[in-house]
Amino acid sequence: MGQRSFWPLFDLVVRTPRLEVRLPREHEFGALIEVVDAGVHEPGAMPFFVSWTEEEPDVRARRSAQFWWGQRASWHQDDWAFTGAMFVEGRPVGVQELSAKRFAAVRSVETGSWLGLAHQGRGLGREMREAVLHLAFAGLGAEEALSGAFEDNASSLATSRAVGYEENGEARGPRRDGAGRTIRFRMSRRSWEGRRRDDIEIEGLASCLEMFVGAGPRS
Ligand SMILES: CC(C)(COP(=O)(O)OP(=O)(O)OC[C@H]1O[C@@H](n2cnc3c(N)ncnc32)[C@H](O)[C@@H]1OP(=O)(O)O)[C@@H](O)C(=O)NCCC(=O)NCCS
Repeated sequence: MGQRSFWPLFDLVVRTPRLEVRLPREHEFGALIEVVDAGVHEPGAMPFFVSWTEEEPDVRARRSAQFWWGQRASWHQDDWAFTGAMFVEGRPVGVQELSAKRFAAVRSVETGSWLGLAHQGRGLGREMREAVLHLAFAGLGAEEALSGAFEDNASSLATSRAVGYEENGEARGPRRDGAGRTIRFRMSRRSWEGRRRDDIEIEGLASCLEMFVGAGPRS
């Protein structure tokens, strides 16, 4: 008897002409941590709600691994986060997350991402967002995708706009010991359908689809 995959999410790959988004295996965590060590944003800037990039490097490395393990350990069909790494020419250079709560009923996803400074500004952030939007809309049957960024995060705001999201209000979010103003974005299924790319492939979804949407009603 062949070995059954205990974690079929490892086989899920979203592939575009330039990159792949898939879960990093444990032996790849180190390469991803090196990307973080080389810098994800300019010193002094803080694009994230949790200031994880400002931790001391050893602590940051340990907590990054805990975070990636944690997303897997706590996976539930009603509350999941697919924290994929973006691989370019086989090397991880960033992270693109797709998450949802009660997805089977609500059909709404949220995204979050980062890539190493050296890899920014070359269209990869846009392409990895388009990759997971393809997973959400074409693969999982989402009805909307949400995102947001602090009002001074020019590259993230520009990426959401370039991909075709519409502004969807504002919100306050935690920033270091205080709070900042974020701009919220929304992409509807209809809007995605008008822009969808025909050069993105999803591999290995059938065996893990149930993990995203549940088994559905039993007949
Ligand atoms: C946000 C981020 C993921 C975007 O990825 P990227 O690879 O730098 O962006 P891209 O090169 O794909 O650019 C996407 C679009 O935004 C535009 N853009 C990117 N940076 C920009 C900037 N600083 N100012 C204006 N426009 C910008 C690009 O021109 C492109 O538009 P186009 O496709 O119409 O030409 C990346 O910059 C990053 O990791 N930043 C640090 C972490 C972060 O802010 N994460 C998001 C938290 S909300």
